[in-house]
Amino acid sequence: MRTQVAIIGGGPAGLLLSQLLNKAGIATVVIELRSRDYVLSRIRAGVIEWGAVELIRAAGAGERMDREGIPHDGCRISDNGRLFRIDFVESAGKRVMVYGQTEITKDLYDAQDAIGATIFHEVDGVTLNDVVSPTPSVTFLKDGVRQTVEADFIAGCDGFHGVSRPTIPLSVRREYEKIYPFGWLGILTRTPPVSDELIYARHERGFALASMRNANLSRYYVQVPLTDRVEDWSDEAFFEEFRARMPAEAARRLVTGPSIEKSIAPLRSFVSEPMRWGHLYLAGDAAHIVPPTGAKGLNLAASDVHYLYEGLSEWYHGGSNAGLEAYSQRALARVWQSMRFSWAFTMMMHRFPDHSDYERQMQSADLAFLETSASARRVMAENYTGLPY
Ligand code: APR
Ligand code: PHB
Repeated sequence: MRTQVAIIGGGPAGLLLSQLLNKAGIATVVIELRSRDYVLSRIRAGVIEWGAVELIRAAGAGERMDREGIPHDGCRISDNGRLFRIDFVESAGKRVMVYGQTEITKDLYDAQDAIGATIFHEVDGVTLNDVVSPTPSVTFLKDGVRQTVEADFIAGCDGFHGVSRPTIPLSVRREYEKIYPFGWLGILTRTPPVSDELIYARHERGFALASMRNANLSRYYVQVPLTDRVEDWSDEAFFEEFRARMPAEAARRLVTGPSIEKSIAPLRSFVSEPMRWGHLYLAGDAAHIVPPTGAKGLNLAASDVHYLYEGLSEWYHGGSNAGLEAYSQRALARVWQSMRFSWAFTMMMHRFPDHSDYERQMQSADLAFLETSASARRVMAENYTGLPY
């Protein structure tokens, strides 16, 4: 089989790229390890930057998001119960869309179906071949039969555990990593959210986040030690801990109910450079991971896809390789900015086991500055709603 762009991975990055390319008349084949149901069972964050909203619309997958998503003009921050608001529109002239990233993946699959895109699911032994030659290809097993997809380019959108990044030799690749000494225990529950906006709460017992999917679906998190297991946390224990970390008004409004999903995610910052090797271009979690504080994962995948899509359309429609040549550098410049924001927001809000009282005072001072300084709020709002592409 021959195509123009072979895309490894059918998560948000791979599907968004495939959808944009198909709409621009560029042929793709998506190769995904898992079943569609498995991909759509992964619960992800729920805040979409406006740049990503517009890209999803441009891909023809924004209709349900525009109907069911909730635009948010601000968020709340709490420091040991002291609550204040960041007004995104006042501070940065932008807002965000609250809409589940899993829903976006579903909408992208539906959009791909509608245009008859080629997607292989449940494949084995995906291998990238001759990536630096003019004739790259991807081979894999589908129902025990060996398949070969020849392509002009390969997009590695196969997430952190994929095969694309390791294809780049270690002599070329440089990795940067920070592991945080805690995780987030998250639950999804069919209850009205404690607040009309997200609440990011720093507390001496540890961080908590009140998020939502809609008027009757709440997504709540508490920071937990990495040694905790989900089985150790009953719903009652979760809600008790969450209530203790929320500011009083929100704690009073908390409605509890059975969890319909409960999981622990570790926090990590990771970047692999470069994002291009020969005809292989990495996008999304294949090249970088951010901690969830600020919900930049899908948003960063979207900006990579934007740069890669531009480069590929310039190549196919204009005959210029300038965008592809610049891809790694352009994508990484924005990746590092998002890394900085997610790291700083994580460092400011969590309880670190090795922090001294001095370091805890520094966190309080950072938050007091954010509360009282219009410039600090602007920096926060610009980053949270998304830096320009
Ligand atoms: N071959 C083919 N597909 C693979 C392989 C492989 N060897 N390894 C992994 N995959 C698939 C995974 O099953 C997954 O569906 O690649 C996909 C990668 O998807 P994500 O992990 O969601 O990564 P990405 O598309 O970059 O998503 C970016 O969106 O929702 C957020 O939190 C999510 O930060 C992530 C972001
Ligand atoms: C979520 O809704 O799951 C969510 C929202 C904001 C974050 C992280 C996760 O920063």
